[in-house]
Amino acid sequence: TPDSHVPRDHRLIRLTGVHPFNVEPPLNDLFENGFLTPPELFFVRNHGPVPQICEQDVANWDFSIEGLVERPMMVSLKQLISEFEQITIPATLVCAGNRRKEQNQVRKSNGFSWGPSGLSTALFTGVLMSQVLQRARPTRRAKFVCMEGCDKLPNGSYGTSIRLSLAMDPAKGVMLAHMMNGEQLTLDHGLPLRVVVPGQIGGRSVKWLRRLILTDTPSENWYHIFDNRVLPTSVSPEEASNNHSWWKDERYVIKDLNVNSAIARPAHNEKVSAKETDTYVAKGYAYAGGGRRVSRVEVSLDKGRTWRLADIDYPEDLYRDADDYIIYNSRLDMGWRDTCFCWCFWSIDIPIVDLKNASDIVVRAMDEAMNLQPKDMYWSVLGMMNNPWFRVVIHAEG
Ligand code: MTE
Repeated sequence: TPDSHVPRDHRLIRLTGVHPFNVEPPLNDLFENGFLTPPELFFVRNHGPVPQICEQDVANWDFSIEGLVERPMMVSLKQLISEFEQITIPATLVCAGNRRKEQNQVRKSNGFSWGPSGLSTALFTGVLMSQVLQRARPTRRAKFVCMEGCDKLPNGSYGTSIRLSLAMDPAKGVMLAHMMNGEQLTLDHGLPLRVVVPGQIGGRSVKWLRRLILTDTPSENWYHIFDNRVLPTSVSPEEASNNHSWWKDERYVIKDLNVNSAIARPAHNEKVSAKETDTYVAKGYAYAGGGRRVSRVEVSLDKGRTWRLADIDYPEDLYRDADDYIIYNSRLDMGWRDTCFCWCFWSIDIPIVDLKNASDIVVRAMDEAMNLQPKDMYWSVLGMMNNPWFRVVIHAEG
């Protein structure tokens, strides 16, 4: 295949046909791998074939800044690297379709079945988008940044927009990244340049970046309008395809991620041996959106009647709190001390006697704004932002 040179771990699970290439790692492998995911195990979400980009294209890569700016310009990748301050931040990208399979099991949505591994974390190196945009001097009328990749899709290139105020706020970490975990981006993940919008759904982090267009209205790109939205639950697939006004309503655009969590151990339907020790360690991940911190994770063995508090580990803190800030390689004070851009890990010791009486385990997380994962699913036509309590069935033995 044309993409055969792209590094891809053999454990990745295919979610669609050959093109577009859409994969997630098995949850246990993603989780056991730890905080940072290597690019070859990182989930991939493409809307079409991966563009063919050769070494020479990379060497000559540039992108435009156009629209409502005083000084429209082209910026080369070389300039981006040599003329702007380079920063490195850890960020978790999450596809808005993460956990969609559970929605599809209730009622088929217009999307393929992501398990709970539509997320991955990397150290992204590049330049704050605000620094780049400042050079072009946005005009007072500019309110949105439209971003476009170079993939050739049935409805044009992939594109979307974010608010200019978000892009211009250094504390939000919106960046143009050319490296992932200290190495050049791989083709699957946007070689040679992508946007990273921490805290928002992965769909805003445009890969293979070619254009930044400042506008006073949101992007009119097909993929911005007909993707990454949560329409009201009453809108059926038929109604959504017959009546386009649903898609033009900006209230239904997804921005920040919502609070979510999953259980990695035990696996669904696992036989849990009760013989050897007297406690069982259950564990998993959680995340929240908009830079908010997950402030509690709770586990229930009796279908939500009673809850026990899990421990939370935030590996991201080690990067942020490093005295010398070396990892961020930046003299700018970006106010990141209060901000969480990454997943965290939870774990809980469960006495075996308690586990023996349970038929399932459920988990829910709450963030610092007290947003709590709901008990019930909010089904919508694209099957996005699915975040009810996560449940695994267990069989205690011995
Ligand atoms: N950028 C382009 N150019 N084309 C795409 O299809 N998919 C988006 C986003 N950026 C996409 C894109 C979506 S929906 C997601 S979730 C993320 O890329 C996935 O990033 P990854 O493939 O590096 O994990």
